[in-house]
Amino acid sequence: MYSIFTSMKVFSDPWVGHPGLNRLGMHRKRVKAALAICRFRRAQTVRVRDADEQHLMDHGFVAIENFLPDEEFAALRNECHAAEEAARTATPLPDKPEVWGFGDSDRHDWGFDRFDGGTLNRFIKPGPLAAAFPRNAQFKRLARLVTGKTMSPRRNWIYQTVNGDETEIPDQQREFHRDTFFNCMKYWFFIDPVREEDGPFVYVPGSHKLTPERLAWEEKKAEAAVEARVQKDHRGMTGSFRIEEEEMAAMGLPEPKAYPVPGNTLVVANVFGFHRRGDAVPGTRRLSLYGNHRPQPFVPIGS
Ligand SMILES: [Fe+2]
Repeated sequence: MYSIFTSMKVFSDPWVGHPGLNRLGMHRKRVKAALAICRFRRAQTVRVRDADEQHLMDHGFVAIENFLPDEEFAALRNECHAAEEAARTATPLPDKPEVWGFGDSDRHDWGFDRFDGGTLNRFIKPGPLAAAFPRNAQFKRLARLVTGKTMSPRRNWIYQTVNGDETEIPDQQREFHRDTFFNCMKYWFFIDPVREEDGPFVYVPGSHKLTPERLAWEEKKAEAAVEARVQKDHRGMTGSFRIEEEEMAAMGLPEPKAYPVPGNTLVVANVFGFHRRGDAVPGTRRLSLYGNHRPQPFVPIGS
């Protein structure tokens, strides 16, 4: 029972995926309660102050170019490039997964590799400048605006993405989805520019809003996930609901937008909104600082 009051999202959980409780509208209630608590926390901690912050609140997404002063950025970029090179010298980039399956990591002294399908995610331990990034005052305000909570600096990495061949091993992160049932944040601070062919982040503007159409969709997906649990279909029990483009259009959402950006750009997204990793030319790479801020949804105290 305890799990329904946590961030637990997978329908393989006996309470989250409970058929009787879901018939009583539990998923709908969790989504609505989490949103109300998030708003309450936000009201305790932060108010919108400028156009970028308003953009994040209105669209669920913001890309801020020239985020750091030039000298500060150059020092951070040098540190990240050196860390990336050291990791690559210690462990050359693998072509194909040695460890199969989403979420399984291949650990090393410098960090770890994880494949999503054919896409390599290399997470490298941050140096001192990269580790200090989440303490940036402007960044901290954006993290609070999404969740009402301060982001832990421990959840940050230097993140290299190496795009794989989709025709060989498909990457589930390239399907539109929302991460979980409540407002949570991911950020990428791009060290190198991201071109169209590098697989830019794709987001559906405004899709973080809980409209009546969205709530109905949430309930429909929860019903399908409960059914998948009954049928023991493991893929169907995921709590990161997938969505087709036609479904988004039927909900009145605008076209998805890809965001190629120059280096020194901070991208912040509320990943309750629909998003995916963009299509890319195999072998291309992206390098960023990255963090995932997913505080417990039912804790009412902001911080
Ligand atoms: Fe995601």
